[in-house]
Amino acid sequence: MTIQAHLDRIQTINQGSFYTPDSIVRLVYQMLLDAKMDIKDYVLLDSSCGYGSFLNLEGFKQNIGADVDSVALSKAKAYFKDSYTKPLFIHTNALADVQRDKFSLTESDKLIIIGNPPYNDKTSIVQNRLKSTDSNPVDSHLKARDIGISFLRSFDILKADYICVLHPLSYLIKESNFKSLKNFIKHYRLLDSTIISSQIFCPKSLGFFPIVIALYEKDNQGMDYDFICNFSFKTRDGKSFKLNDFDFIARYIDKYPNKKRVCESQKVAMFYTLRDINALKRSKTFITKENTNTIYITQDKYSLYCYVDVFKQIIKHISYYLGNCDILIDFKKFQALESAFIKASESKILSEDIMQYFKDLLGEHYEN
Ligand SMILES: C[S@@+](CC[C@H](N)C(=O)[O-])C[C@H]1O[C@@H](n2cnc3c(N)ncnc32)[C@H](O)[C@@H]1O
Repeated sequence: MTIQAHLDRIQTINQGSFYTPDSIVRLVYQMLLDAKMDIKDYVLLDSSCGYGSFLNLEGFKQNIGADVDSVALSKAKAYFKDSYTKPLFIHTNALADVQRDKFSLTESDKLIIIGNPPYNDKTSIVQNRLKSTDSNPVDSHLKARDIGISFLRSFDILKADYICVLHPLSYLIKESNFKSLKNFIKHYRLLDSTIISSQIFCPKSLGFFPIVIALYEKDNQGMDYDFICNFSFKTRDGKSFKLNDFDFIARYIDKYPNKKRVCESQKVAMFYTLRDINALKRSKTFITKENTNTIYITQDKYSLYCYVDVFKQIIKHISYYLGNCDILIDFKKFQALESAFIKASESKILSEDIMQYFKDLLGEHYEN
């Protein structure tokens, strides 16, 4: 049921119609069941249900699925015709006129939202050149750069008691994305997480990024970015990490064009704009031709940019789930090896010491 078969490649990308394999649906169910709410009291809603992969779970007061794609819904209805859960299917744009009514929910219904809403994060699978402007209207207070962010905000409007959905990990760990979740982060708190690779949805893609299965509980305290930095994220293969386990390069160098602050006479070299580890895989490091993405490097920072250049060479050893993090550094150990990093960057030969530095820096996140 999960293999989406009615849209071509471009439509699939535009609507974010990458359906969820059963193995992942089971992980989501397990996370919900582990939270030990009394599920018979709750309505289960997937407001972007596709063929309905998430609507099989028994024991809820009612299962409801909605989607803007009428063909997907008719397939879902056919699939569930004789099923025990008998979901209610609603054809609607889940981001317009958002209120409980439109999903046949009353104000007093206890609600769990589940699913895998579409997203079009710039760092994700979606190839920008294939995208057209989205034709479905979105309520003004839900409008965001990424449709997945709009979906999370819509769950806040619906006042769900629990939310257990897949979304790019970058929504939480990149501070600007996190803040753009607005009221969602004021009213929800992350309880549990499992990180999986986007590879499962797009095996042929050139780059993979981390997706989190996240369980949120409605909570008046909400969460701030510090909470996320201290949260221990678990991965599907039994690893875990906190952002606060690491120190990041942004504390020491400019990541973005700095020509307004650094004058040309001070520059000893130039570097390309730095984003996260995944972006560094594809981007240049030192550059000789200036453009709008150019960072000027001063003598005192030169060794740190050499460090980034060397970091790019060992990127294949970094586990995918750190892909949306900034470049990691152990500053004290870096200082001890400063001239070795300059040499490694200039010669492109990595000494034993440098390789050992990265093994120590990454610990269990180093991949052979
Ligand atoms: C990633 S798929 C997930 C489908 C299903 N929940 C699953 O995991 O197998 C995203 C779904 O969102 C639907 N969608 C996209 N925009 C929507 C909108 N504005 N309102 C409702 N559904 C939407 C697409 O048609 C697609 O079926």
